[in-house]
Amino acid sequence: MAGIKVAELAYGRLFSPDLDKQEKFLTDFGMVRAARTATALYMRGTDPQHHIHVTELGEPRFGGFGFHVASEAELEKASRLDGASKIETVDEPGGGKRVRLTDPLGYRIDVIHGMEKVAALPVAPHAPMNTGAERKRMGGSVRLGKRIPQVKRIGHAGYYTPKSAEVIAWYRETLGLIQSDDIYRDEKSNIVASFNRCDQGDAFVDHHAILVVQGDKTGLNHLSFEVQDFDDLMLGHHHLGAQGYKHAWGIGRHGLGSNVFDYWADPWGRLHEQWTDADLMNRASGSNLLSVEEGFQSQWGSPAAAEFRGYATP
Ligand SMILES: [Fe+2]
Repeated sequence: MAGIKVAELAYGRLFSPDLDKQEKFLTDFGMVRAARTATALYMRGTDPQHHIHVTELGEPRFGGFGFHVASEAELEKASRLDGASKIETVDEPGGGKRVRLTDPLGYRIDVIHGMEKVAALPVAPHAPMNTGAERKRMGGSVRLGKRIPQVKRIGHAGYYTPKSAEVIAWYRETLGLIQSDDIYRDEKSNIVASFNRCDQGDAFVDHHAILVVQGDKTGLNHLSFEVQDFDDLMLGHHHLGAQGYKHAWGIGRHGLGSNVFDYWADPWGRLHEQWTDADLMNRASGSNLLSVEEGFQSQWGSPAAAEFRGYATP
Protein backbone atom coordinates (compact mmCIF):
# COMPACT_ATOMS: atom_id res chain seq x y z
CA MET A 1 0.00 0.00 0.00
CA ALA A 2 1.52 3.31 -1.06
CA GLY A 3 2.13 5.71 1.79
CA ILE A 4 0.80 9.19 2.37
CA LYS A 5 2.59 12.54 2.60
CA VAL A 6 2.20 14.27 5.95
CA ALA A 7 2.54 18.06 5.86
CA GLU A 8 3.94 18.73 9.33
CA LEU A 9 4.15 17.49 12.89
CA ALA A 10 0.98 18.56 14.73
CA TYR A 11 1.68 17.63 18.37
CA GLY A 12 3.23 15.22 20.77
CA ARG A 13 1.02 13.43 23.31
CA LEU A 14 2.23 12.86 26.86
CA PHE A 15 0.63 11.36 29.94
CA SER A 16 1.23 13.07 33.29
CA PRO A 17 -0.19 12.48 36.77
CA ASP A 18 -0.58 16.22 37.51
CA LEU A 19 -1.99 18.55 34.84
CA ASP A 20 -1.45 21.68 36.98
CA LYS A 21 2.25 20.89 37.26
CA GLN A 22 2.44 20.13 33.51
CA GLU A 23 0.69 23.38 32.63
CA LYS A 24 3.01 25.38 34.90
CA PHE A 25 6.07 23.89 33.17
CA LEU A 26 4.72 24.45 29.66
CA THR A 27 3.68 28.02 30.51
CA ASP A 28 7.15 28.75 31.87
CA PHE A 29 8.47 27.18 28.66
CA GLY A 30 6.52 29.71 26.58
CA MET A 31 3.28 28.00 25.57
CA VAL A 32 -0.28 29.16 26.20
CA ARG A 33 -3.27 27.07 27.28
CA ALA A 34 -5.57 26.33 24.34
CA ALA A 35 -8.04 24.14 26.23
CA ARG A 36 -8.27 22.06 29.35
CA THR A 37 -10.76 19.35 30.24
CA ALA A 38 -11.02 17.26 33.41
CA THR A 39 -8.57 14.75 31.93
CA ALA A 40 -6.42 16.58 29.37
CA LEU A 41 -4.42 19.73 28.70
CA TYR A 42 -3.92 21.30 25.25
CA MET A 43 -1.23 23.94 24.80
CA ARG A 44 -0.49 26.21 21.82
CA GLY A 45 2.17 28.56 20.48
CA THR A 46 1.70 31.97 18.85
CA ASP A 47 1.02 30.42 15.40
CA PRO A 48 -2.62 29.71 14.49
CA GLN A 49 -2.69 25.94 15.13
CA HIS A 50 -5.28 25.17 17.82
CA HIS A 51 -2.72 23.22 19.86
CA ILE A 52 0.77 21.75 19.51
CA HIS A 53 1.09 19.78 22.76
CA VAL A 54 -1.34 17.34 24.42
CA THR A 55 -1.11 15.98 27.96
CA GLU A 56 -3.56 13.40 29.20
CA LEU A 57 -3.97 12.58 32.85
CA GLY A 58 -2.25 9.30 33.71
CA GLU A 59 0.98 7.68 34.80
CA PRO A 60 3.91 9.34 33.04
CA ARG A 61 4.48 7.95 29.56
CA PHE A 62 4.75 8.99 25.95
CA GLY A 63 1.56 8.58 23.96
CA GLY A 64 2.48 9.27 20.33
CA PHE A 65 2.40 12.00 17.70
CA GLY A 66 -0.10 13.80 15.50
CA PHE A 67 0.70 14.86 11.94
CA HIS A 68 -1.31 17.21 9.76
CA VAL A 69 -2.15 16.26 6.18
CA ALA A 70 -2.95 18.97 3.64
CA SER A 71 -6.18 17.55 2.18
CA GLU A 72 -9.18 15.36 2.86
CA ALA A 73 -8.00 13.16 -0.01
CA GLU A 74 -4.75 12.48 1.85
CA LEU A 75 -6.74 11.54 4.95
CA GLU A 76 -8.85 9.14 2.86
CA LYS A 77 -5.61 7.60 1.64
CA ALA A 78 -4.40 7.28 5.24
CA SER A 79 -7.52 5.29 6.13
CA ARG A 80 -6.49 2.67 3.55
CA LEU A 81 -3.01 2.11 5.08
CA ASP A 82 -2.24 -1.19 6.78
CA GLY A 83 -3.62 -1.19 10.33
CA ALA A 84 -5.35 2.19 9.95
CA SER A 85 -8.57 3.13 11.73
CA LYS A 86 -11.53 4.44 9.80
CA ILE A 87 -11.82 8.22 9.46
CA GLU A 88 -13.05 9.48 12.83
CA THR A 89 -14.33 12.81 14.08
CA VAL A 90 -11.77 14.05 16.60
CA ASP A 91 -13.27 14.02 20.09
CA GLU A 92 -10.77 16.53 21.46
CA PRO A 93 -10.72 20.36 21.50
CA GLY A 94 -9.70 21.71 18.08
CA GLY A 95 -11.79 19.07 16.34
CA GLY A 96 -11.16 17.99 12.76
CA LYS A 97 -10.97 14.47 11.42
CA ARG A 98 -8.35 11.85 12.00
CA VAL A 99 -7.07 8.40 11.14
CA ARG A 100 -5.19 6.50 13.83
CA LEU A 101 -2.12 4.42 12.96
CA THR A 102 0.42 2.59 15.11
CA ASP A 103 4.13 3.00 14.45
CA PRO A 104 6.60 0.08 14.78
CA LEU A 105 7.33 1.04 18.40
CA GLY A 106 3.66 0.70 19.26
CA TYR A 107 2.97 4.42 19.66
CA ARG A 108 -0.24 5.94 18.37
CA ILE A 109 0.05 8.20 15.34
CA ASP A 110 -2.89 10.50 14.60
CA VAL A 111 -3.15 11.70 11.01
CA ILE A 112 -5.22 14.87 11.23
CA HIS A 113 -7.08 17.05 8.80
CA GLY A 114 -9.17 20.13 9.56
CA MET A 115 -8.03 20.96 13.08
CA GLU A 116 -9.45 24.37 13.95
CA LYS A 117 -7.26 27.37 13.07
CA VAL A 118 -7.29 30.06 15.70
CA ALA A 119 -6.10 33.69 15.61
CA ALA A 120 -2.33 34.06 15.92
CA LEU A 121 -1.28 35.48 19.28
CA PRO A 122 0.52 38.84 19.36
CA VAL A 123 4.29 38.39 19.34
CA ALA A 124 6.31 40.78 21.52
CA PRO A 125 8.30 43.29 19.47
CA HIS A 126 11.72 42.09 18.34
CA ALA A 127 14.21 44.72 17.26
CA PRO A 128 16.29 43.88 14.17
CA MET A 129 19.75 42.58 15.05
CA ASN A 130 22.90 44.44 14.05
CA THR A 131 25.65 42.11 12.82
CA GLY A 132 29.14 42.82 11.52
CA ALA A 133 27.93 42.66 7.95
CA GLU A 134 24.43 44.07 8.29
CA ARG A 135 23.27 47.10 10.23
CA LYS A 136 19.50 46.87 10.48
CA ARG A 137 18.77 48.74 13.71
CA MET A 138 19.72 52.32 12.93
CA GLY A 139 19.07 54.72 15.80
CA GLY A 140 17.02 52.11 17.70
CA SER A 141 17.54 50.12 20.91
CA VAL A 142 16.81 46.63 22.20
CA ARG A 143 14.29 46.80 25.04
CA LEU A 144 12.97 43.33 25.73
CA GLY A 145 11.36 44.16 29.05
CA LYS A 146 10.64 41.57 31.70
CA ARG A 147 9.00 38.67 29.95
CA ILE A 148 9.27 34.95 29.28
CA PRO A 149 9.85 33.36 25.86
CA GLN A 150 7.09 32.79 23.35
CA VAL A 151 6.91 29.44 21.61
CA LYS A 152 5.89 29.86 17.98
CA ARG A 153 5.19 26.27 16.89
CA ILE A 154 6.19 22.64 17.21
CA GLY A 155 9.04 21.59 14.95
CA HIS A 156 10.16 18.00 15.49
CA ALA A 157 10.59 15.10 17.84
CA GLY A 158 13.38 12.64 18.59
CA TYR A 159 13.21 8.91 19.34
CA TYR A 160 15.71 6.51 20.83
CA THR A 161 15.27 2.87 19.88
CA PRO A 162 17.21 -0.32 19.17
CA LYS A 163 14.87 -0.75 16.17
CA SER A 164 15.93 2.45 14.40
CA ALA A 165 16.13 0.92 10.89
CA GLU A 166 12.56 -0.37 11.10
CA VAL A 167 11.30 2.92 12.51
CA ILE A 168 13.06 5.03 9.87
CA ALA A 169 11.69 2.83 7.10
CA TRP A 170 8.14 3.08 8.46
CA TYR A 171 8.16 6.88 8.73
CA ARG A 172 9.49 7.17 5.19
CA GLU A 173 7.30 4.55 3.55
CA THR A 174 4.09 5.23 5.48
CA LEU A 175 4.16 8.98 6.18
CA GLY A 176 6.30 10.01 3.21
CA LEU A 177 9.16 11.53 5.21
CA ILE A 178 12.42 11.97 3.29
CA GLN A 179 16.00 11.67 4.41
CA SER A 180 17.77 14.93 5.24
CA ASP A 181 20.89 13.58 6.96
CA ASP A 182 21.72 10.01 7.96
CA ILE A 183 24.70 9.33 10.23
CA TYR A 184 26.73 6.12 10.16
CA ARG A 185 29.29 4.57 12.48
CA ASP A 186 32.24 2.70 10.94
CA GLU A 187 30.36 1.09 8.00
CA LYS A 188 28.18 3.23 5.75
CA SER A 189 25.40 0.69 6.15
CA ASN A 190 25.44 1.05 9.95
CA ILE A 191 23.04 3.98 10.38
CA VAL A 192 22.98 5.22 13.97
CA ALA A 193 20.90 8.37 13.53
CA SER A 194 18.55 9.70 10.91
CA PHE A 195 17.06 13.16 10.42
CA ASN A 196 13.88 13.08 8.30
CA ARG A 197 11.77 15.92 6.94
CA CYS A 198 8.27 16.15 5.53
CA ASP A 199 8.02 16.02 1.74
CA GLN A 200 6.04 19.04 0.60
CA GLY A 201 7.58 19.31 -2.88
CA ASP A 202 8.93 22.80 -3.59
CA ALA A 203 7.70 24.20 -0.29
CA PHE A 204 10.40 24.67 2.33
CA VAL A 205 10.01 22.73 5.58
CA ASP A 206 12.10 22.14 8.72
CA HIS A 207 15.32 20.17 8.26
CA HIS A 208 13.72 17.41 10.32
CA ALA A 209 10.31 16.48 11.69
CA ILE A 210 11.45 13.13 13.11
CA LEU A 211 14.93 12.24 14.36
CA VAL A 212 15.58 8.57 15.10
CA VAL A 213 18.69 7.62 17.09
CA GLN A 214 19.83 4.04 17.61
CA GLY A 215 19.89 3.37 21.36
CA ASP A 216 19.70 0.55 23.85
CA LYS A 217 16.19 1.45 24.99
CA THR A 218 13.04 2.70 23.32
CA GLY A 219 11.28 5.95 23.98
CA LEU A 220 10.76 9.59 23.25
CA ASN A 221 13.94 11.59 23.66
CA HIS A 222 12.50 15.04 23.04
CA LEU A 223 9.74 17.22 21.70
CA SER A 224 11.03 20.37 20.04
CA PHE A 225 9.55 23.82 19.68
CA GLU A 226 10.55 26.93 17.74
CA VAL A 227 10.80 30.12 19.76
CA GLN A 228 10.69 33.57 18.17
CA ASP A 229 14.40 34.32 18.07
CA PHE A 230 17.72 34.13 19.88
CA ASP A 231 16.61 36.57 22.59
CA ASP A 232 13.59 34.38 23.35
CA LEU A 233 15.81 31.32 23.63
CA MET A 234 18.05 33.16 26.12
CA LEU A 235 15.06 34.54 28.03
CA GLY A 236 13.76 30.97 28.23
CA HIS A 237 17.10 29.66 29.43
CA HIS A 238 17.26 32.08 32.33
CA HIS A 239 13.56 31.91 33.20
CA LEU A 240 13.39 28.09 33.23
CA GLY A 241 16.60 27.98 35.29
CA ALA A 242 15.19 30.46 37.81
CA GLN A 243 12.09 28.28 38.18
CA GLY A 244 14.29 25.35 39.18
CA TYR A 245 13.66 23.05 36.21
CA LYS A 246 16.32 20.54 35.20
CA HIS A 247 18.54 21.70 32.37
CA ALA A 248 19.63 18.86 30.06
CA TRP A 249 21.84 20.31 27.28
CA GLY A 250 22.69 23.60 25.67
CA ILE A 251 22.92 26.32 24.74
CA GLY A 252 24.65 25.35 21.51
CA ARG A 253 24.30 25.38 17.75
CA HIS A 254 23.70 21.95 16.23
CA GLY A 255 25.69 20.86 13.20
CA LEU A 256 22.88 19.12 11.29
CA GLY A 257 19.86 21.40 11.03
CA SER A 258 22.01 24.33 12.25
CA ASN A 259 19.53 25.26 14.99
CA VAL A 260 20.55 27.03 18.17
CA PHE A 261 19.21 24.75 20.88
CA ASP A 262 18.45 24.44 24.58
CA TYR A 263 16.96 21.32 26.25
CA TRP A 264 14.91 21.26 29.45
CA ALA A 265 13.32 18.35 31.31
CA ASP A 266 9.70 18.63 32.39
CA PRO A 267 8.82 17.51 35.96
CA TRP A 268 8.77 13.85 34.80
CA GLY A 269 12.01 13.99 32.82
CA ARG A 270 10.60 14.40 29.31
CA LEU A 271 12.87 16.69 27.32
CA HIS A 272 11.42 19.78 25.68
CA GLU A 273 13.79 21.58 23.31
CA GLN A 274 13.63 25.23 22.42
CA TRP A 275 15.30 26.19 19.17
CA THR A 276 15.70 29.06 16.75
CA ASP A 277 17.35 29.72 13.39
CA ALA A 278 17.13 26.23 11.85
CA ASP A 279 17.67 25.15 8.24
CA LEU A 280 14.73 25.01 5.85
CA MET A 281 14.80 22.51 2.99
CA ASN A 282 12.58 21.40 0.15
CA ARG A 283 12.53 18.26 -1.97
CA ALA A 284 15.35 19.58 -4.16
CA SER A 285 17.62 20.02 -1.13
CA GLY A 286 18.50 16.33 -1.32
CA SER A 287 19.90 13.93 1.28
CA ASN A 288 23.28 13.40 2.94
CA LEU A 289 25.15 10.51 4.52
CA LEU A 290 27.75 11.51 7.11
CA SER A 291 30.01 9.76 9.60
CA VAL A 292 29.46 10.11 13.35
CA GLU A 293 32.57 12.30 13.45
CA GLU A 294 31.11 14.64 10.82
CA GLY A 295 27.48 14.49 11.87
CA PHE A 296 27.29 14.57 15.64
CA GLN A 297 29.30 17.72 16.29
CA SER A 298 27.84 20.91 17.63
CA GLN A 299 29.21 24.03 15.94
CA TRP A 300 29.58 25.61 19.38
CA GLY A 301 28.43 24.81 22.89
CA SER A 302 29.26 22.03 25.32
CA PRO A 303 28.88 18.39 24.24
CA ALA A 304 25.79 16.46 25.33
CA ALA A 305 26.11 14.97 28.80
CA ALA A 306 26.19 11.15 28.84
CA GLU A 307 22.85 11.18 30.64
CA PHE A 308 21.18 12.77 27.59
CA ARG A 309 20.79 9.25 26.25
CA GLY A 310 18.92 8.38 29.42
CA TYR A 311 16.06 10.63 28.37
CA ALA A 312 14.00 8.01 26.59
CA THR A 313 10.46 8.06 27.93
CA PRO A 314 8.68 4.79 27.23
FE1 LIG B 1 15.92 18.44 18.41
